[in-house]
Amino acid sequence: MSNLFDKRKTVRRYTDEPVPKEVILDVLRDAQKAPSWANSQPWEVYVATGETLERLRKAYLEAYDSQQAPDDSDMPKPKAWPDYLQERMNASYARVFEQSGISRDDEKARAENWRNNFAFFNAPVAAFLCLDRSLTEWSTLDVGIYAGNLMLAATQHGLGSTPAASSVSYPHLLREILEIPEHHRIIVGIMMGYEDKNHPYNRPSSIRVPVEETIHFRGL
Ligand SMILES: Cc1cc2nc3c(=O)[nH]c(=O)nc-3n(C[C@H](O)[C@H](O)[C@H](O)COP(=O)(O)O)c2cc1C
Repeated sequence: MSNLFDKRKTVRRYTDEPVPKEVILDVLRDAQKAPSWANSQPWEVYVATGETLERLRKAYLEAYDSQQAPDDSDMPKPKAWPDYLQERMNASYARVFEQSGISRDDEKARAENWRNNFAFFNAPVAAFLCLDRSLTEWSTLDVGIYAGNLMLAATQHGLGSTPAASSVSYPHLLREILEIPEHHRIIVGIMMGYEDKNHPYNRPSSIRVPVEETIHFRGL
């Protein structure tokens, strides 16, 4: 499996092995090659590791365990997803649980699995992608392209990665501990590290709908 696109997947549990600073920098240098509006490179990336990440992880788990409601997000979700997307999402959740060995009625295992999100999947590196508040959807698109580059760069350099909306559930903690100013909108977190290949959370393999379902060919 040499193709980067086949190799990348969402890793949901990492080993304790720290990532050398040089490897993190190599990944970030490659991600930086992402295209953007007039080469504006609008992403502002806060990379947390070591003691700082441990403080953040502890604060997130305390918030989760005390059932603190998520803060208002800088990235609102739709009120409802269109039915055909909701169906895809439901099928995807069911597949992930089934392949992770978690049964539908095992609430304890499901809660533990969700809590793993707030432990940042035990990742040794967490990158939070932000954007100046004055910018528009064009720049949010640039950050999305950057995020894709970052995850493929991680794969290229032997790391697993996790895009995680759950990781931005408590922006007030991110702002406090990572010193993210108010004028930086927090878009998404991407965790990185070495995949724990023996962990059941890493068993799932995702599938995609056929291209004909999402591509509207005209003239081909
Ligand atoms: C913006 C975004 C947010 C995501 N948030 C989460 C999350 O909070 N928790 C999680 O386990 N996976 C999360 N994912 C991962 C998706 O579930 C995953 O990409 C999808 O199921 C396809 O699987 P694959 O990445 O292994 O191909 C997120 C992905 C994206 C792009």
